[in-house]
Amino acid sequence: MKQGYRESALHGNSDLAVEAHGLVKTFGDNRAVDGVSLNVPTGSIYGVLGPNGAGKTTTIRMLATLLRADGGSARIFGHDIVKEAQIVRQLIGVTGQYASVDESLSATENLIIFSRLLGLSRAEAKRKAAELLEEFSLTEAAKRPLKNFSGGMRRRLDLAASLIAQPPLIFLDEPTTGLDPRTRNQMWDTIRQLVKSGSTVLLTTQYLQEADELADRIAVIDRGKVVAEGTVDELKGSVGTSSLHLTIKNPHDIHIARNTVERVLNVQSSVLAEAGRITAPMADADRVTDLLIALREAGIALAELSVQKPTLDEVFLTITGHGVQEDADMSNQSKQAREVSV
Ligand SMILES: Nc1ncnc2c1ncn2[C@@H]1O[C@H](COP(=O)(O)OP(=O)(O)OP(=O)(O)O)[C@@H](O)[C@H]1O
Ligand SMILES: [Mg+2]
Repeated sequence: MKQGYRESALHGNSDLAVEAHGLVKTFGDNRAVDGVSLNVPTGSIYGVLGPNGAGKTTTIRMLATLLRADGGSARIFGHDIVKEAQIVRQLIGVTGQYASVDESLSATENLIIFSRLLGLSRAEAKRKAAELLEEFSLTEAAKRPLKNFSGGMRRRLDLAASLIAQPPLIFLDEPTTGLDPRTRNQMWDTIRQLVKSGSTVLLTTQYLQEADELADRIAVIDRGKVVAEGTVDELKGSVGTSSLHLTIKNPHDIHIARNTVERVLNVQSSVLAEAGRITAPMADADRVTDLLIALREAGIALAELSVQKPTLDEVFLTITGHGVQEDADMSNQSKQAREVSV
């Protein structure tokens, strides 16, 4: 697979697999992608994290030359996605939400067709198909028509198909959405394996845990804009070194409790949707003693309290002012929260 990683990505710039500047895509009056810039180092796993409709798929489709950008520019291993689209297409593989396999054919037949289309001989195509099916634990199902495949099997076959060409850069659009935990773990292993063997992976996800688990760097994208970028640790660092989680017994006390937390810790807190939950960054875990005393003096009974390393969920909440699953318009809150610098 390591053919000098496809002649060092066909003699382009090899330090950055993706270099995008101010990409814009407008659908009607909807700026689906509103000035996205990304740098993806070669050999890394880069995560683009964002909720439904954030613009992840649209960004990938532009980078993969499947959709023309309305503004901005991008290079793949140094090759311009517009002027050198033909070269770019030789360097990338795309899989994901637009699964591209024939329902009536078996897994083996699908992979053989893809291989033949890519110019492999009949024998090579057969060997390649068998090898990939083995690698993706699909050997048993290989002869069955695709219409009988589960979602997880389809997803793995889709990824397998995109690997026939062994592209230096692989775009994975939400590779594990809807998969069960075991299949998701298998997928993660496969993705790590791809990078070990020399590929660069750009994946989109709505799962913070997935980005946390896999990605070297992450861009958080919200409503068409990159709202934060960095390593997982940098992003976590942006919400403080530790984070306080507090659940109070009586939800009616939430305002007093929140005020107490903010006064004692001297920070902004977030109140999560479920009643009675407060989350706040903490610079110094020792302050928890002061906080407990203050809460008792205020007559607030606690159901649960913990101090832990911040999760990416909290990072997202802090940066965007709304949770990952939330689509509701909370623009006032998000404007305030965006002042957090990363
Ligand atoms: N072909 C299209 N025509 C019109 N609007 C579109 C089109 N494709 C995407 N959009 C809109 O652009 C915005 C971004 O969509 P996109 O699919 O890029 O989001 P996403 O981050 O991939 O979301 P998801 O997590 O749901 O896949 C959405 O508001 C979507 O409705
Ligand atoms: Mg999408």
